[in-house]
Amino acid sequence: SPTAEFIAGLPKAELHVHLEGTLEPEVKLALAERNGLFLEQDTVEEVQATYEFDSLASFLAVYYPAMDVLRTEQDFYDLAMAYLVRAKADGVVHAEMFFDPQAHTGRGVAFADVITGYHGAAVDAAQIGVDAHLIMCFLRDLPADGDPNSAEATLDALLASPEFTSWVIGVGLDSDERDNPPRKFAEVFARARQAGLHLTMHCDIDQPDSIEHIRQAIHEIGVERIDHGTNVVEDDSLVADVIDRGLGLTCCPVSNSFVTEDSKATEIVDLLGRGVTVTINSDDPAYFAAYVAGNYEALAQKAQLSSDQIIELARNSFRASWLTDEAREGYL
Ligand code: ADE
Ligand code: ZN
Repeated sequence: SPTAEFIAGLPKAELHVHLEGTLEPEVKLALAERNGLFLEQDTVEEVQATYEFDSLASFLAVYYPAMDVLRTEQDFYDLAMAYLVRAKADGVVHAEMFFDPQAHTGRGVAFADVITGYHGAAVDAAQIGVDAHLIMCFLRDLPADGDPNSAEATLDALLASPEFTSWVIGVGLDSDERDNPPRKFAEVFARARQAGLHLTMHCDIDQPDSIEHIRQAIHEIGVERIDHGTNVVEDDSLVADVIDRGLGLTCCPVSNSFVTEDSKATEIVDLLGRGVTVTINSDDPAYFAAYVAGNYEALAQKAQLSSDQIIELARNSFRASWLTDEAREGYL
């Protein structure tokens, strides 16, 4: 359609994509074969049939086991490079990609293999015209400290190597939000900030204590972005804080429609109209069947976006990015 071509043709940044969420069924099958692993599923259709979820928790219950096929540095490289090639086709010229080291180190994969594979793809993405960066996420349902696979131990693994540290632009927080507030990770995030890293956190759609978690992320942690964060629309004083601080929201309309049965299109467009730096992203595109352009298209259709609004969303993706101010100017 003309809209699809227009959207794909707009240069854009993707700021909320989990590399582990780009594991397509074909890739899962191929990696199982390559690594000599037994899988319950033999075909793409059988893998897709396991993709049954209607909430964040039920999504995560499918998502983590599927990652078991990722074993070697080459696996992480191939996963990230396949995403970057696909994102390029959607007009992505700048990507800030989440990865979940604890989902791998917790099952015996070396931290170095995860980060080296992903970093290699980020470097090689320059050859296809994508400026790619990594954001290391902590799993909020694991301990903050006092455990070999805690957030603190994971930050230690990063900061122990100046080289690894230089491969990451920021840290994030994801996984199951229930009873895992931002405050739980205050010390870890303070250390990451000290190390010069940017800070973001998920405040997922319609979670228990959503507003309180957004408040903590802004006022106790000092995040620069909120991933999802769309529930902020329910609290005018927090919307004002988001605007005053110039915080970006990385919204994911198609993901929303899987985990809440509502794309939150009305809320996203409301926030855009109020001057919030709202951005559109894919979250876990292999699971939600839409890469970034598909998310713009779904929102455009649902909310009857004008081309000016679509352009504004694409410009916001650079405004909310962690590009240097000079590089950002080149895109705006
Ligand atoms: N991990 C991958 N996708 C996620 C999401 N949307 N929310 C929380 N954790 C995630
Ligand atoms: Zn996410």
